[in-house]
Amino acid sequence: MPPHDPAAEARLARHPAALRDALIALDPVAAAHPDDVRVVRAPGRVNLIGEHTDYNAGFVLPVAIDLGISVALVPTDDGRAALTLAATGETGAFDVGRVGERRGSWLDYVAGMAWALGEAARSSEAATGPRGFRGLLASDLPQGAGLSSSAAIEVVAAWALSGGDRPPLDPMDLVHVVQRSENGYIGLNNGIMDQFASIFGEPDRALLLDCRSLEHRSILLPLDEVALVACHSGSPRTLESSAYNERRAQCEAAVAAIAALAPGVTALRDVSPAMLDVVRDRLDPVAARRAAHVVEENARVLDTIAAFEASDLAAVGRLFYASHASLRDLYEVSSPELDALVDIARATPGVIGARLTGAGFGGCTINLVRREAVGAFRTAVLSAYPARTGLTPRVFAVEASAGAARLA
Ligand code: GLA
Repeated sequence: MPPHDPAAEARLARHPAALRDALIALDPVAAAHPDDVRVVRAPGRVNLIGEHTDYNAGFVLPVAIDLGISVALVPTDDGRAALTLAATGETGAFDVGRVGERRGSWLDYVAGMAWALGEAARSSEAATGPRGFRGLLASDLPQGAGLSSSAAIEVVAAWALSGGDRPPLDPMDLVHVVQRSENGYIGLNNGIMDQFASIFGEPDRALLLDCRSLEHRSILLPLDEVALVACHSGSPRTLESSAYNERRAQCEAAVAAIAALAPGVTALRDVSPAMLDVVRDRLDPVAARRAAHVVEENARVLDTIAAFEASDLAAVGRLFYASHASLRDLYEVSSPELDALVDIARATPGVIGARLTGAGFGGCTINLVRREAVGAFRTAVLSAYPARTGLTPRVFAVEASAGAARLA
């Protein structure tokens, strides 16, 4: 369907019957077996707070959103996965039992899942290996925006590679198989937050996850009062795997140094602010900054829950701004563009709090905005941000939504 028409693609992504019909029009196998076509969808996420804490065994508070990736598919028995992008008409295909090397394209996220599901099936009787399918993918989730388009495609691929009726594994096991694909195939040493949100999302709720114990509970958000607004900086996010992996390695180095002084510490999760004060001077300055961010950010997640539960939105806002400052100054993953968006938000009446969301290095901010102020906030960003940066932002209100599911 080139040239790319994002509105047409979003319509397909949001209307399962239309996506199903488009697959049937495109693919002879689907046309021959129209009753076998399934449509599955996996959402993106925003993270309210708890950034770069997941791979430090800490706490996160993401929300699955109403933007995501949908796939219409017909399962096959030929062991071949073939997927077409509605955006461009491009098709990629591979043998699910022999996915080969990374290609450096979107197809890697599908192939990586086939690889990781195959590995899971070899090591556990509870898992069945990947099977073939022919599918059509449509997305209304901006890519490379820090809204977890990678997790969404991996989760939807996991369903497609398993026939499309149900998730291939117990949901928390699937969270870890997605991580295995990212770490072992894609080459990003990330944590479990994004796919956890895409799988476990609930309407109107944020998800508190303890990334060590894997205990989780959902938190009702005051959405009658407050809107979740994402602002895309319009600067291409270089989630340089290298910068991300470097942060993770720096955290591991900090743990090793702290453990030498405080035996029993196996992750930054184990480090209290008081313990950090004692050891800080003996750490390399970079390690000390990274550790301080993670230790304080974990506390901020729990404080945010308490503030939501006490209906103290002013406190939630202060925690958001503190998180952003820490990501900027201690973790060093912000950008001038993200800082400008947060400054503009802070100066706009009715904005409760703002911070970068996701890995950083570009991408989006998440803003908690009083419902009646959303219009004025949008206007403020659309006028002040280009003047400050020369870039065009995108502002979109998102809804807290359910996790991955079969739609049709
Ligand atoms: C990316 C990773 C997540 C998490 C965030 C930062 O989204 O995929 O695992 O580490 O960055 O909080």
